[in-house]
Amino acid sequence: MHCVRNVTPDLYWVGANDRRTPLFENIHPIPQGVSYNSYLLLDEKTVLFDCVDWSAAPQLLENIDYLLKGRDLDYIVLHHLEPDHGAGLWAVLQRWPHAKLISSLAAQRFMDQFGFSPFTGERIVAKEGERFSFGRHAITFYAAPMVHWPDVMVSFEETEGILFTADAFGTFGALNGKLFNDELDFPHAWLPEARRYYANIVGKYGPPVQALLSKAAALGNKLKLLCPLHGPVWRTDLSWFMGKYDLWSRYQPEDNAVLLVYGSMYGGTEQAAEALAIALTEQGVPVSMYDVSTTPVSHLIAESFRCSHIVLASVTYNMDFFPPVRDYLEDMKALALQNRTFAVMENGTWNPAAAKLTAAFVTGELTNCALLEPKVVLKSAPREDQSGEIQALSAAIAAHLQS
Ligand code: FEO
Repeated sequence: MHCVRNVTPDLYWVGANDRRTPLFENIHPIPQGVSYNSYLLLDEKTVLFDCVDWSAAPQLLENIDYLLKGRDLDYIVLHHLEPDHGAGLWAVLQRWPHAKLISSLAAQRFMDQFGFSPFTGERIVAKEGERFSFGRHAITFYAAPMVHWPDVMVSFEETEGILFTADAFGTFGALNGKLFNDELDFPHAWLPEARRYYANIVGKYGPPVQALLSKAAALGNKLKLLCPLHGPVWRTDLSWFMGKYDLWSRYQPEDNAVLLVYGSMYGGTEQAAEALAIALTEQGVPVSMYDVSTTPVSHLIAESFRCSHIVLASVTYNMDFFPPVRDYLEDMKALALQNRTFAVMENGTWNPAAAKLTAAFVTGELTNCALLEPKVVLKSAPREDQSGEIQALSAAIAAHLQS
């Protein structure tokens, strides 16, 4: 059965929701699912904007078939070829083999590399500023390389002010019947997943996202709708969400708040972290606390993009970082997190080294990050007389956060 929605009178959402895949990119847990957004324009020409993951191709075909009502599909516009969008292309071209394909040159190269296209028809390479008319509607292409892959382009439909944004402004989460941002409690129920999507999927590419935001800003009040490849379509509060993207892509924190990540083997480090969380809370400092061993790293990264201060409380392991702490820090570095203040609590039964390692990492491997004193040193478990040390660290964090 078809499952479609109107975006505008001539443009339809024809994508699909995936509630079965446990891991996006086979890495990131998506317990609330994800949508693969595809859009169909019915004009003098018929145009499909992007495809879906292979698993969702049957629904896509059914949706297109229902709306075309026997018309042929004239064009396929591919803004991004990554397989969560490009893999369904093969099925679409089997069904409508005469469709002309419009995309970047890189997308066409990747398409062939992945083997997604049985295509022998016309391929059109879109370039920056190039305009294509389909009747009452025309689109202009803008390159957006590395938001999130090198092939990415976005396009702007000028009649109704629609920006097809590829992965930009995407969000984890199945749509569950609601297509538009104003049909959701986005700021509360969806923002954490939008942040987790951004930080882990696009977070490394802050400068390219800034370049895209500049191109979007140049559209001024002609811009009415954001149509991303995942998550809701934005038709209200565009500037609010673009403001989040601006902060995230400049690696500026959203909140003056503490992220407390602890790595504990036998409970001593966790106990000290607990005491610090209490002290911070009593001093009025917002704090969120996570066990590095059981929290998916994508959540830790998302919280790292949100918070201004990060406390690492960790055991020493083989005279090195606790392995899950190392994974978290390496991911943080890979995703280019910047402009944060760190503090550290270390633990070691005979030779604690986590603080020294963290200091070297924070100042040597990250950009514009600093380590706040004092550190707290634990030997196996926190002693009762160390309460003052934990209070002192809390006070230093509170003072710095409020300065
Ligand atoms: Fe949703 Fe970069 O693909």
